[in-house]
Amino acid sequence: MVKIISLAKRRGFIFPSSEIYGGFGSGYDFGPLGVEMKNNIKQAWWDEMIKNHENVVGLDAAILMNPKVWEASGHLAAGFADELAECKSCHKRFKADEVETRKCPDCGGELTQPRKFNLMMKTFVGPVEDEAAVTYLRAETCQGIYMNFENVLNSMRMKIPFGVAQIGKAFRNEITPKDFIYRIREFEQMEMQWFCHPKDAGKYFDCWLNERINWYLKLGIKKENLRIREIPEKERAHYAKRQIDIEYKFPFGWHEIEGVHNRGDWDLSNHSKHSGKDLRYVDENPPAGGKERYFPHIIETSVGVERSLFAFLCDAYQEIAGGRTKTTKATKEVEILLKLDKKIAPIKIAVLPLVRNKPELVKKAKEVYQLLKPHFVCQYDELGSIGRRYRRQDEIATIFCLTVDFESLKQDDLTIRDRDTMEQERVKIKNLIELLREKLR
Ligand code: GAP
Repeated sequence: MVKIISLAKRRGFIFPSSEIYGGFGSGYDFGPLGVEMKNNIKQAWWDEMIKNHENVVGLDAAILMNPKVWEASGHLAAGFADELAECKSCHKRFKADEVETRKCPDCGGELTQPRKFNLMMKTFVGPVEDEAAVTYLRAETCQGIYMNFENVLNSMRMKIPFGVAQIGKAFRNEITPKDFIYRIREFEQMEMQWFCHPKDAGKYFDCWLNERINWYLKLGIKKENLRIREIPEKERAHYAKRQIDIEYKFPFGWHEIEGVHNRGDWDLSNHSKHSGKDLRYVDENPPAGGKERYFPHIIETSVGVERSLFAFLCDAYQEIAGGRTKTTKATKEVEILLKLDKKIAPIKIAVLPLVRNKPELVKKAKEVYQLLKPHFVCQYDELGSIGRRYRRQDEIATIFCLTVDFESLKQDDLTIRDRDTMEQERVKIKNLIELLREKLR
């Protein structure tokens, strides 16, 4: 864990937020490589949901909504709260289920009886800071989807069953943020809400759970590091009739990365009740004839971008004692290989002149870099020995290293080194873009 956190900082994936002021509430910023990786994860999820399914459409709803949304959804009630005990001396709060005695784990002071603390982040909108101006930063993105259920249905002429997918920020005032980016207060969710007939909810639950597990496997997560856990009723979210968590084996144990929920008609019926707007679906041609009017049931898949990114990083991280190539002296140390899937890896290609003290090689390598840059996320690197540069790229998961050597000047070609096999092949520069596109597909 310490090594992964250190690599993430050293190589520009993840930085502590507001670091020069000592950080802020376990917030994290994503650096140049982190933001590429995050974008790749989001794109892979979006493609999976929108391109691979006929009847899933996208949405981007506002973060700030009418506070009545959160009353109706149940998030302002006791259900969306942590049970905390407060130390009477130092006033630090602890999750009730994480302290074993009535003593403060920090100062030894006496703890109060556990009380519920709501996780919603409060804010004010408009010019006056009074109770009328209070609203909340959304704690889950899906409420924006429910708010637009009718808009999407009508504007897109959707028929049940159909899904709405959304990626966006969510906020929770987590009392105990911890484990690096595992539990943070500001994060992004990728959520899909599947609206279906109540009688089909069970079937679709199984179907979506299966699809979600396969998504991780397709993107290279090792099967032995994934498992599912059926959540018993007393641990379930307040809206869930059924909940299965997809868990990943993190360095600190098995933990949830994604939740698949059967939310039943909890959301649409509550929003109908609170808003006065009838959100029932009307089926004009049910098999039994006539018209059928009902609240669709919702199957939800919900994953955090940061949490899945963390799992992808942990799964890809390898240390190779003695180096990957045993022949040269420089590789006697431990080498790091970040074996991210080609879709997730932040940098696809590095362009390297064999040596940097030959202006012709540098010039040619820079030309290749300029040629590829509009098409792929690339890096140019000329510092250090070629072996050291390969290792620097392996450490950040770069899929291909392209080396421009003396032969390149005569043949107008270069070598492509594959990150995983370390095999090299010579290819003509004129064929490069097409070839790389094919390899990275
Ligand atoms: N709409 C359903 C929902 O929000 P959840 O189980 O509370 O369900 C779903 O959250 C996913 O969102 C989690 O599996 C996790 O990946 C991510 N998530 C939730 N809270 C988080 C936090 N504090 N930090 C990072 N990710 C979080």
